[in-house]
Amino acid sequence: MENYNGKVAMVTGSSAGIGAAISKALVKRGMKVVGLARRVEKLGDLKKQVSKEPGQFYGVKCDIRNEKDIIGAFEWVEKNLNGVDVLINNAGLMKDTNLTDGDTEKWRTVFDTNVVGLCIATREAVKSMKKRNVPGHVIHINSIAGHRIHPGMAHLSNVYSGSKFAVRALAETLRLELEHHKLKIKVSNISPGYVKTEFFSASGYGVPEAFKDIAHLNPEDLADAVIYALSAPSNVNVSEITLLPI
Ligand SMILES: NC(=O)c1ccc[n+]([C@@H]2O[C@H](COP(=O)([O-])OP(=O)(O)OC[C@H]3O[C@@H](n4cnc5c(N)ncnc54)[C@H](OP(=O)(O)O)[C@@H]3O)[C@@H](O)[C@H]2O)c1
Repeated sequence: MENYNGKVAMVTGSSAGIGAAISKALVKRGMKVVGLARRVEKLGDLKKQVSKEPGQFYGVKCDIRNEKDIIGAFEWVEKNLNGVDVLINNAGLMKDTNLTDGDTEKWRTVFDTNVVGLCIATREAVKSMKKRNVPGHVIHINSIAGHRIHPGMAHLSNVYSGSKFAVRALAETLRLELEHHKLKIKVSNISPGYVKTEFFSASGYGVPEAFKDIAHLNPEDLADAVIYALSAPSNVNVSEITLLPI
């Protein structure tokens, strides 16, 4: 990780769970981390928690469903930190609805957050990396639900798995597009199974009974996977990591 010392990472959904753990891990390794989320008070708490670490944390209010907010966050980074080297697309959610008589607005919220917001943030990050000709890295925090649909999740997942399958396809497509443009930007897709976070309470479902006693990953396990991907030699793109709890 020496190469990333002093470099700039943007982490979407930095206020809780996996995004907060990734943000802390990167600040500990000396990076300047810009955390985006709607709950700025949580970003303020995180800033205090990492104040003695070698890197820096900056919280920027951003609703990832709002293009103006995303562009504003990238402009802030451009103006104050000169641009972004690493983008972690982590903000994401599931909503309590279904496919057969589901709520259109909830479907839109999931796709706007998990897919469209991710595409806009990626586009803005690539522009910044390209402009400065830096060997950047885009990391999508996907899900095992982006690879297969577990029967135990079928009644909860509605459009969520579809959004995460889309994220996996977007990672592949982005890698090809970057290769086509001869840009040395890495793309990683990291897909965890169940991680103990606010994810299910935020969905409106609450934590399903069946999940209360099952094996789980911790947000820090995802931070370790991100560090692994970022630490690979310059000729190695860690394209896919799948983490399952045991
Ligand atoms: N937990 C799991 O079991 C699990 C498993 C596989 C994959 N994942 C994926 O991991 C990622 C992080 O999930 P988590 O488990 O850490 O969930 P979490 O604890 O609920 O955290 C979600 C984060 O996303 C942010 N977010 C949600 N909507 C947003 C919006 N409109 N604008 C900006 N930020 C937004 C939240 O920030 P604010 O509310 O402050 O805006 C929060 O920081 C997601 O992409 C999720 O799909 C989770």
